[in-house]
Amino acid sequence: MKPSLLLLTMLLSGAAVASTNTTVYPMTDMTLANVGTIHIGAPLTELSKNGQQLKIEISGVQPAGNNQVIFLGAKQRIVLATLNADGVKALKTGKAFTDAYGNQWHSVTLTAQIPNQVTAQQQQLWTEAAQLKDRSCSVCHAAPVPTQMSVNAWPSVVKSMGGRTDLTQAQLQLLTSYYQYNAIHK
Ligand code: HEC
Repeated sequence: MKPSLLLLTMLLSGAAVASTNTTVYPMTDMTLANVGTIHIGAPLTELSKNGQQLKIEISGVQPAGNNQVIFLGAKQRIVLATLNADGVKALKTGKAFTDAYGNQWHSVTLTAQIPNQVTAQQQQLWTEAAQLKDRSCSVCHAAPVPTQMSVNAWPSVVKSMGGRTDLTQAQLQLLTSYYQYNAIHK
């Protein structure tokens, strides 16, 4: 093959791969035998599709000393995935960095096969969550809006307030994601 043709082929195939890399969001928490749990609403890069299975990549960060949780960012401690032993083994570790408080972090990526229970519209999940909180979190006080608290404060608030509602664990996980992804301190 002529060098110019080879280059063209490489460019075209590169473009073809890139065009399938859309961001998708799980519509429920997904617990997978060889990964662990990937949480509802987590942004995932779709690498390829094979019938009802998707190959996806998760990118995030981990604090030094805890390789079981993948967070969205050091400042945005939204849990994207909680890994089991196989999930930890499959991690690819990227560059290390130090946050403003002197804590050590590193970036990680993980590829996994997941069922095709995802949406390309993260907003679709939040519409359902907003209805839930309007119904269940407005009994004792006005239903709080996501911008009322910081991204890192929401999980413990939803956990403690959730105990005063009849919401299921799955519904509380949806609410936690809704409040965190829509909080003001992004
Ligand atoms: C059974 C009554 C009740 C329900 C239902 C309830 N809350 Fe509360 N909430 C309270 C009370 C009482 C307080 C005042 C602080 C406290 O007692 O902890 C409060 C305080 C709060 C605060 C302020 C906390 C802070 O630290 O400033 C937030 C935010 C909140 N609730 C969110 C929610 C959410 C989200 C839901 C739905 C999942 C919810 N609440 C459902 C009773 C309730």
